[in-house]
Amino acid sequence: MSPPSTPAPVARQTGFHFRCIGCAKVSHDASRNFRCASCDDLLEIAYPQWQERKPDAEDLKATWSNRRLSLNSIDLSGVWRFREMLPALAGDQQVITLREGNTPLYELTQCARTTGVQRLFAKHQGMNPTGSFKDTGMTVAATFARQAGFRWVGCASTGNTSASMAAYGARGALRSLVLVPEGKISWSKLSQALDYGAVTCQLRTDFDGCLRLLQELVLRAPVYQLNSINPFRLEGQKTLALELMEQLDWKPPDHIIVPGGNLGNSSAIGKALVEMRELGLIPRLPKLSIIQAEGANALLRTLREGEGKRLISVQAETRATAIRIGNPASWKKAVHALEATGGACEQVSESEIAQAKAEIGAEGIGCEPASAVTLAGMKKLVRQGLVKREESVVLVLTGNVLKDPDFTIDFHRGELLGGEHDTPSLARLRRPPIVLDATLDAVMGALEQAEKS
Ligand code: F0G
Repeated sequence: MSPPSTPAPVARQTGFHFRCIGCAKVSHDASRNFRCASCDDLLEIAYPQWQERKPDAEDLKATWSNRRLSLNSIDLSGVWRFREMLPALAGDQQVITLREGNTPLYELTQCARTTGVQRLFAKHQGMNPTGSFKDTGMTVAATFARQAGFRWVGCASTGNTSASMAAYGARGALRSLVLVPEGKISWSKLSQALDYGAVTCQLRTDFDGCLRLLQELVLRAPVYQLNSINPFRLEGQKTLALELMEQLDWKPPDHIIVPGGNLGNSSAIGKALVEMRELGLIPRLPKLSIIQAEGANALLRTLREGEGKRLISVQAETRATAIRIGNPASWKKAVHALEATGGACEQVSESEIAQAKAEIGAEGIGCEPASAVTLAGMKKLVRQGLVKREESVVLVLTGNVLKDPDFTIDFHRGELLGGEHDTPSLARLRRPPIVLDATLDAVMGALEQAEKS
């Protein structure tokens, strides 16, 4: 690898600039760790030209809708279709795309019945090409990595970022360096990174340790960091909210509920909502609420004990390994998103996560455990009166059910939680596999048994 160098020269951007979320300093290029040169806080991307001349909301909607008939690869992407809301590419730069986005919005009729919430939807980001929402951000950030002339991209990950980065890296002829906590990510996600050809390092630490190390590494080696600290990732992830509003005919729901880990996704959705309102694409802001696992509740504690002003880190532990994060990088951006939209932050227990995941599965949809915190959290918000039964709610399901089969199998076999967590409602949802002799009688017996239960 070539010796450490300053960032590869990036054509000076005219359509956007970087702005520090701490001191508001504006810059036209970013350092390798995407932190402010003055105060070390995170950067975000801003579009100064919108101040001078706002794009027309109706024109934008018509352009995005027309592109759905196009066969160009940039229009077939559910991210780049909304490119007026993204940083502009230099000249004839090609995008790295796997046709990300374009994910379904499902109605959750059974969960609506059991929770009493009349209009309940799931925006299923697990239907992206590598099975998680990360792809919507990765197409943008990987494209900018290539435009900036990098050969290597790198990330720390609880699994999904690494799977996504490795795929987009491979599509863009970039080499990938993955840092994951040893033994703490699902085999499905690890296997994706291996198959897409990443150099995969399982480090004897947790996610937070991996991210710390990556932040140091990118200052020493010419590796472009693709964690959600990278603001290009968040710009791509904004399109979830654009696509959702389009699917709802630009009539915002009352609530959007999202899981919180490193807090990049909630920050991206919050930014998108605020921008959409500023541009007149939507008449009002939905409340964006963030749900964490009890064992990885840094944001919740930051709000309750640190008044949203100082980060309270935690030693994270949860079987929802995607959000097993104790020191979330984008906590300040997430606090801004909650304040701007008036949403809440809640935490849910391991058994609440398991139950919600099985309930979403029983609707024929399925998701990974980290995504199920949304339904579990919504039940709490309903009990607290923060979500009213007549309101409309969209749960953001962030990952595909196939991402963590061990969790699902352990749950159905009754091996996920210790006995003390076992409740009748959990037992009712279990469908363990039945081992039988290969005879008609045995299978008929199983059928009769199931009819009775
Ligand atoms: N849901 C899933 C399935 C995830 O993989 C993640 C994060 C989150 C929710 C939380 O999103 O970090 O933006 O708040 N996964 C990262 C990873 C950290 O490395 O794959 P967040």
